[in-house]
Amino acid sequence: MMQKKTLNDNQHGRQLINFEKPSCIALLIVGLIGGASLVALFSRAPYSSSALFCRGGAWQSRPLSKSPVTQLDAILHYATTSIMPQQSIDEISVTFNVLKSVGPCNFLVFGLGHDSMMWDALNPGGKTLFLEETPDWITTTLKSAPALHADAVAYRTKLSEADDFLKHYRNEPSCRPNNSDLRGNSKCRLALNMLTEKVYNTEWDLIMIDAPRGYFPEAPGRMAAIYSAAIMARNRKKPGVTHVFLHDVDRQVESTYAETFLCKKYLVKAVERLWHFEIPAATKADNSDYFC
Ligand SMILES: C[S@@+](CC[C@H](N)C(=O)[O-])C[C@H]1O[C@@H](n2cnc3c(N)ncnc32)[C@H](O)[C@@H]1O
Repeated sequence: MMQKKTLNDNQHGRQLINFEKPSCIALLIVGLIGGASLVALFSRAPYSSSALFCRGGAWQSRPLSKSPVTQLDAILHYATTSIMPQQSIDEISVTFNVLKSVGPCNFLVFGLGHDSMMWDALNPGGKTLFLEETPDWITTTLKSAPALHADAVAYRTKLSEADDFLKHYRNEPSCRPNNSDLRGNSKCRLALNMLTEKVYNTEWDLIMIDAPRGYFPEAPGRMAAIYSAAIMARNRKKPGVTHVFLHDVDRQVESTYAETFLCKKYLVKAVERLWHFEIPAATKADNSDYFC
């Protein structure tokens, strides 16, 4: 029955296009060119055309022909694994919605986890880099997901010293928002000064802080990640804001450091245990000793 209807529809369609009329041929050519342009546009910017603010650069931007492989790998992985990412669907959706509106973009993710293939796949054509505290965990993860890009980070902090690091920030001039750079900043112990050049040389459009671990005293805690994300956002040269996402804000250190460095005035969304900040670049007039 269905087949018959389709056939009839096709026949009806053929009747509508009269190829002998020059105006119909012109219309058809315009339609084909328009369709081809749309395909070209969407294969360059999978989610939107706002690539003006957010564009993949030279390193790690995969050739577009390879991009779908990453997405297919991720579908296969999540369809066959019983291990779920820790963020809830509502929390993940906050970041996903931003990726859809600004991607493909430069996406820096603190921590390799069960969600890593997902974040990488949700930024097709962009650059996604993971910063991970445990080298062995990088090796393990990359065995099953070799397309991911991850750098090891040897943190200089311990969760048990979180209060001391806040005092250190207040007393150490090289931690102040206006003199602070990350590269080479050994005096400010909250500055991640041990990252690779590609981290410093890339303007990150989105920064996800869901690591390092911050749930036992000897763990590095997220103090340096939060401080350094604030510095990266303030030093942005590209137009637009930096989107910073912080998970586990139900914990004291995460919420205190977020209020000190990422600023409540820049908080645009709070969903369960995730906060989303939109942080503008610092201006020349902005010469306060404080971040907020
Ligand atoms: C705080 S967890 C967040 C994980 C992430 N949101 C997820 O859904 O998997 C991130 C850190 O936990 C550690 N980690 C996560 N899974 C691990 C595992 N299976 N074995 C060892 N370390 C792990 C890594 O150091 C990682 O940077």
